[in-house]
Amino acid sequence: MTKIELLIVICLALFLFGAVCNVVKIDKLALKDVFEKHFLIGAALNDDIVSGKDPQAAEIVEKQFNTVTAENVMKWEKIHPKLNKYDFDASDRFVDFGLKNKMFIIGHTLIWQSQIPGWAFVDSSKKLLSRDAMLARMRDHIFTIVGRYKGKVKGWDVVNEALNDEGEFGKTKWLETIGKDFVAKAFEYAHEADPKAELYYNDFSLDKPAKRDAAVRLVKDLQAKGLRIDGVGIQGHWGMDYPIREDLDAFIDSIGALGVKVMVTEMDIDILPVASNYMGADINIKVDLQKKLNPYVDGLPDEVQKKLTDRYSELFAQLLAHKGKVSRVTLWGVYDKTSWLNNWPVRGRTSYPLLFDRNYQPKAAFYAIIKAAEKTK
Ligand code: G3I
Repeated sequence: MTKIELLIVICLALFLFGAVCNVVKIDKLALKDVFEKHFLIGAALNDDIVSGKDPQAAEIVEKQFNTVTAENVMKWEKIHPKLNKYDFDASDRFVDFGLKNKMFIIGHTLIWQSQIPGWAFVDSSKKLLSRDAMLARMRDHIFTIVGRYKGKVKGWDVVNEALNDEGEFGKTKWLETIGKDFVAKAFEYAHEADPKAELYYNDFSLDKPAKRDAAVRLVKDLQAKGLRIDGVGIQGHWGMDYPIREDLDAFIDSIGALGVKVMVTEMDIDILPVASNYMGADINIKVDLQKKLNPYVDGLPDEVQKKLTDRYSELFAQLLAHKGKVSRVTLWGVYDKTSWLNNWPVRGRTSYPLLFDRNYQPKAAFYAIIKAAEKTK
C-alpha cells in the first residue's frame, strides 16, 4: 500500500468512526435531559401507548419525557360514563405507566363542558339540576377521581376552557347550574380531595389580551378567596403565524407575576392550510378543495419542513428566554400519525404537528429545539 492509499484508508476510518459516534450521540439525546434545567417536558398519551398496543410510541415516551398527561381517558364521558358508574380501567393504566417511569403525572381534566354526557346536568326527569344538586354531583366526581389517584397524580387541570375570547365565562351548563363560582368550587373540592396536588386552570388562546386578562382575574379571584391555584396552562395549539410574539410574552409575564406556574400544556404546530380560509370558496369543486386542504399526503416538501422546524425553534427559544418562568411544556401527542389534528377541523388529513414523524423518527424540529436549549445558558 502506498503512503497516499494509507492516508485515504486512515481518513476513511476516521470519517466512519466520527459518523458512528455521531449516530450514537444522536441516539442518546433525550429531551428530558436537554431541558432539565429549564422545564419539565412531556406528552399527552392515548390508551394504545400505555396499554402496550403501540410499543414504539411508549419507547419514545419513556426515553424522552418526564411528564405525561392523559389525552382522553380522564375526561368525564370516559371515566364517569353513567350516574353511578366510574370506569377506571384506562385511567389506571395511564397512571401506572407514569408511576412505573417515575414521571410527573397530570390529570386532564376534571371540569369541562365538552366530552361530558348530558345526564350529568339533569335529574331523573331530565330537569336541569339545582345549584346544590349540581355542586353535590361535581364534588362526588372530583372526590372520586382525585381521591383515587391521591399522591400519584401530581397536578390536575381542574377547570378547562371556561373562558371565551371576549374574556367572559363561556355559556356552559356549569355556569347555568352553579353560577360563576363553579370554578372556585371545583378548586376547593380538588384541594380537599388531595391537599398536596397541584391545581391548574387550562385554556386555549390565552395569548389574546381579553382572554389573558380574564385568566389573570380568575387567578386573583381564587387567590383572594384563599384557594389553592398552582398554575395556568396555555394549551399551545399553535400555527405558523400565531401566537404573535408580543402576546405570548405578555401572557407569560402577567401570569408569572401572580406567583403561579406558567405552562404550555398541549403544544402542537399546525402547518396545514387553515380550513376556515376556504369556507365558501371552490365549494362545488370538492376534490380540488380536498387537495387544497390536505396537500401533503405524500410527505412534507423540504421547504415546508424547514418552515415548521424554524417555527418550533423560534417558539422554544421564546419560552426559554423567559428563564425559569415556564415550568412545563407538554406536546399534545407523541408522533404525527396519532395527533388529533389529523381529524380536526377536517377529518382524515395528513398532519405534521409534532416532533416525531409517522415512522416514529425524530424530525428536524426535534433537533432544532435541542439547539435552542443549547444556545440558552
Ligand atoms: O375512541 C373512539 C373510537 O372508539 C371511535 O371509533 C371513534 C369514532 O370517531 O372515536 C373515538 O373517540 C375519539 C377520541 O378523540 C379518541 O380518538 C373521539 O371521537 C374524539 O372526539 C376525541 O377527540 C379528542 C378531543 O379532545 C375531544 O375530547 C382528541 O383525541 C383530544 O386530543 C382532544 O384534546 C383536547 C383537550 O382535551 C382540551 N384542549 C383541546 C384539545 C384538542 O381538541
